[in-house]
Amino acid sequence: MIKQAIIPLAGLGTRLLPLTSVFAKELLPINGKPGIEYILDECIDAGIKEVIFIISQKKIMIKKYFNNDDFYKKIIKKKRDPRIIQEYKKILKYKKMIKFVYQNKPKGTGDAVLKTKKYIKNDFFLMLLPDDLIIKKNCSKSMINIHNKFKCSVMASMKVNKKTVSRWGIFDLKKKLVRNNYLIKDVVEKPSVSSAPSNKAVIGRYILPKKIFSKLSKQKPGKGGEIHITDAIQSLINDNHKFIAHNFLGKYLDCGSMHGYIKSTLEIGKL
Ligand code: G1P
Repeated sequence: MIKQAIIPLAGLGTRLLPLTSVFAKELLPINGKPGIEYILDECIDAGIKEVIFIISQKKIMIKKYFNNDDFYKKIIKKKRDPRIIQEYKKILKYKKMIKFVYQNKPKGTGDAVLKTKKYIKNDFFLMLLPDDLIIKKNCSKSMINIHNKFKCSVMASMKVNKKTVSRWGIFDLKKKLVRNNYLIKDVVEKPSVSSAPSNKAVIGRYILPKKIFSKLSKQKPGKGGEIHITDAIQSLINDNHKFIAHNFLGKYLDCGSMHGYIKSTLEIGKL
């Protein structure tokens, strides 16, 4: 059963400068709603009961956003505006399910995952990367269904332009399991165009096994000096742990770049 999700939120968001010089990118509004709320709604709809936010002191405004009770209570007492009451109820619903842990040094996604170790209760958990929005179909929900069927790890996947492979984790397939779901042979973080095994990229939704923590605690920094989740996944694959690539049916929006962020506002506005 997948009941817990983790969300790494300590990234600096340099691709969205100057907006991120004073603002957490995950709170930037997309059609009037912070990006992180789309991710939380995806979790709730997929049956997740607890979400662990990995933040840093620099991103403390994310915690404030969900813990601003005194402010809301004062405003609501003064003017009983139904819209504000409604918004506060929504924030309270999110707040009840969020736990905060800290990653104060940006040492990579793998390092962020490691910070959640003592809070993970079941054998598998979900991870969502907040830059990656997937609309029109709940990707986490479909991945949980696949996990329940095959009882193994799952990653969201999508074909990308061959020229852009060095922006992604790229994998090689072993065999087809069922429509849109394949067993992964190997995965490599941000390969060069000439060394990439394919143009199939990992997108930011993962169902990971608890076993990944022991791999991460021993792992040396990889590409760019960071601890990558991709390297720990490859290490598990080497130990015969099964990972499925799930070709999701929704539409992918890269909210971590300025072009993608602007495009996501337009796309979500059309829904
Ligand atoms: C991360 C992962 C990468 C994956 C990507 C999806 O990279 O390390 O394997 O393909 O997310 O968005 P980042 O976006 O942090 O550079």
